[in-house]
Amino acid sequence: MSADRYPTTAEVREVGPRDGLQIEDTLPIHERVRLVDALSETGLRAIEVGSFVSPQAVPSMAGTDRVLEAITRAPGVRYRVLVPNLRGAEMAVAAGADEIECVVSVSSMHNGKNLRMTTDESVEQIGRITARAHEAGTPVEAILATSFGCPYDGPIPPGRVAEVAVQLRDLGVDAFSFADTTGMGAPPDVTHLLDALGEQGFAAADVALHFHNTRNTGMANLVVAAQRGVRRFDASVGGLGGCPFAPGATGNVPTEDVVHLLHALGMDTGVDLDALIGVALELEGVLGRPLPGQVMRAGPASRLAEA
Ligand code: COA
Ligand code: ZN
Repeated sequence: MSADRYPTTAEVREVGPRDGLQIEDTLPIHERVRLVDALSETGLRAIEVGSFVSPQAVPSMAGTDRVLEAITRAPGVRYRVLVPNLRGAEMAVAAGADEIECVVSVSSMHNGKNLRMTTDESVEQIGRITARAHEAGTPVEAILATSFGCPYDGPIPPGRVAEVAVQLRDLGVDAFSFADTTGMGAPPDVTHLLDALGEQGFAAADVALHFHNTRNTGMANLVVAAQRGVRRFDASVGGLGGCPFAPGATGNVPTEDVVHLLHALGMDTGVDLDALIGVALELEGVLGRPLPGQVMRAGPASRLAEA
C-alpha cells in the first residue's frame, strides 16, 4: 500500500469478449478473435474470451471453442471462460482454457432465470466443476452475481453473499469475484460487503470486484474498494456489456476508464492506455454504434490538445 492508502499494483481483468459481446448481435468468429488478440497486446493479463453455455440461452457465445483455437496466445496472458455447468467445464478443458469461471447468483430468483437452477443447485454443480477442472490442472473462480442486489429480489444481505462464498471455498474453489450485475451498489455497500467477507477470512487483496456502471456508481465503488485494498477489477473494453437475464442491465465499467483511474490513484496496471483506447475505438467501428466509455473519447488526462 502506498502512503495515500491505495495498493501499488492492480490487475484489470478484461471481460468484454464475454460479458460484453454476450448481449450483442452475434459477431463472426474472426471478429471475436481479432478483439481478443488486440486486447492481448495492450498489457492486460487476464481476458475472458467467451462462455460455454447453451447456444439457445446466449446465441452470441456459440463457437467459443473456435475462438480459443484461433487466437494468438500472448505470453503471460490468462485466457478465461465462463461455464454454467459440468458440460461447459468439459468443453472448456477440452478447448484449453487457462481458467474456468463459474457463475452463481446469490439471488435464487436471478439464478433461476440465468441458469435454471436454484443457488444451492448451482453451488453443488460448481463443486463438481471444480473437481473436474482440478483434475485437468485448471483453476476455478466463482463469480457471485447479484452480490450488491438483485433486480428481482431487491437488496441482498452481505452476510448471505459471504455465506455462499464460504460454501464455495469449502468445495475447493480457488478464487472469488463479486459482481454488481445490474449496478445496484454504492460505496457504502462495497464497504459492508468487504466487511462481511473479511469476517469470513476473505482478504480484500484476494477478491475481485465486478462493477456495472448502470447507475454511474461503478467508478466510485472502485475507488472505495481500492482504498480498502482491493486490487483486482473486472472491466469491459469501451464499457460494453450486460446480463441478458437481468432487466435494465448495462455495461461494465469501461476498461480504459478503469485503467486511467487506477493509474491516477498510483496503481500500476501494466496496461498501455493508448493501445487500449485504440482497441475500443476499433470495436466501436465493428459494432457500428457509440460505446459508453469516456476516456476512449477524451484520451488520458496527460494528453494535451493540439495548439
Ligand atoms: N454448452 C453448450 N450447450 C449446452 C450446455 C453447455 N454448457 N449446457 C446445456 N447445453 C444445451 C443442451 O444440450 C440443450 O440443447 P438441446 O436443446 O439442443 O438439446 C440446451 O442447452 C438446454 O439444456 P438443458 O440441460 O435442458 O438446460 P436448461 O435449458 O435447463 O438450461 C443452462 C440450463 C445452464 C444450460 C442454460 O440456462 C445456460 O446456458 N445458461 C447460461 C446463461 C448465461 O450465459 N448467462 C450470462 C452469463 S452470467
Ligand atoms: Zn457482468
